[in-house]
Amino acid sequence: MKRIIITGALGQIGTELTFKLMEKYGEENVLPTDILESNSGDVISKHLKILDVRDIESMKKIVEEFKPDTILHMAAILSATCEKNPQVAWDINMGGLVNALEVARIHKLKFFTPSSIGAFGPTTPKINTPQSTIQRPNTMYGVNKVSGELLCDYYYIKFGVDTRGLRFPGLISHVKEPGGGTTDYAVEMYFEAVKSGKYTSFLDKGTCLDMMYMEDAIDAIIQLMEADGKELKNRNAFNISAMSVTPEMVANEIRKHIGDFSLYYKVDPVRQGIADSWPNAIDCFEAKRQWGFAPRYNLELMTEVMLEAINNKKSLIKA
Ligand code: NAD
Ligand code: SER
Repeated sequence: MKRIIITGALGQIGTELTFKLMEKYGEENVLPTDILESNSGDVISKHLKILDVRDIESMKKIVEEFKPDTILHMAAILSATCEKNPQVAWDINMGGLVNALEVARIHKLKFFTPSSIGAFGPTTPKINTPQSTIQRPNTMYGVNKVSGELLCDYYYIKFGVDTRGLRFPGLISHVKEPGGGTTDYAVEMYFEAVKSGKYTSFLDKGTCLDMMYMEDAIDAIIQLMEADGKELKNRNAFNISAMSVTPEMVANEIRKHIGDFSLYYKVDPVRQGIADSWPNAIDCFEAKRQWGFAPRYNLELMTEVMLEAINNKKSLIKA
């Protein structure tokens, strides 16, 4: 990767990804795009181009002008939002993906898009979920993610587009708020712990899901994109995760720092149904073996850095 265009650059992942890529490859070699505008005044807003990924002509024009060698396609809507409007979800998640793949094919770009633990379903093995296994999701998000994985493999096999992908677990971060996912409860819990010392979880006690700290997720994207393609037996997409946790496990870890933190439950049946259809703990052996995936943050370390960063933000706001 030398010159990179990013779609959905204002999102939870896109924001931190764009910052990291600009630092690594040079500000002028990274072009952030999003359907939204930004007046944050940061380096992303300075370079941001407005792009609705459903508009292939605008996407082609931006690519022709910027001349990237790589496209990182992050624009999408997440699991809980997909269930609210499945038709719009298909339009953006699949329409946007096929447009980005077409542009990659025409301009011979390397291509990355994330899949998700949402690509699995209720009949998938829940523990040590293998890299290749049953994928019959019962959510629109899952249907989009499985179709997307297959479409990316098709573009690789049929047209030789260098497509790569990761099945992300829930991503925990403090820079940008998450955008309508089922795993968002964990991010919310950290912010509420600092703000009010209590949190009401929309997922029930005992709901076990894979998670990962954002820094590890960004590093994994870069590492996979820089890996030698000849070593990759899988492409779309690799299982990756750093921990498998329940709400009470996150709360117990928070209590090591905020002793009187209280966790309550008010279950949202839609998001609980989504979470119950996903695995408890996926197996990441192939990502480790094929390109050296090695996350650095476990629950303990992630909790420490999340609480410290949120506390720092709080004192900055107060100051
Ligand atoms: P997000 O919701 O935070 O950001 C998505 C971005 O896409 C937003 O900035 C939004 O404005 C933009 N967008 C929406 N519709 C668009 C359109 N029509 N044209 C252009 N931009 C549009 O999501 P995220 O968490 O950053 O997720 C990025 C990708 O990673 C998605 O494919 C998501 O499914 C996947 N993923 C995320 C997680 C996670 O925990 N965050 C986990 C697994 C997979
Ligand atoms: N964090 C994402 C979601 O909950 C997983 O893909 O939608």
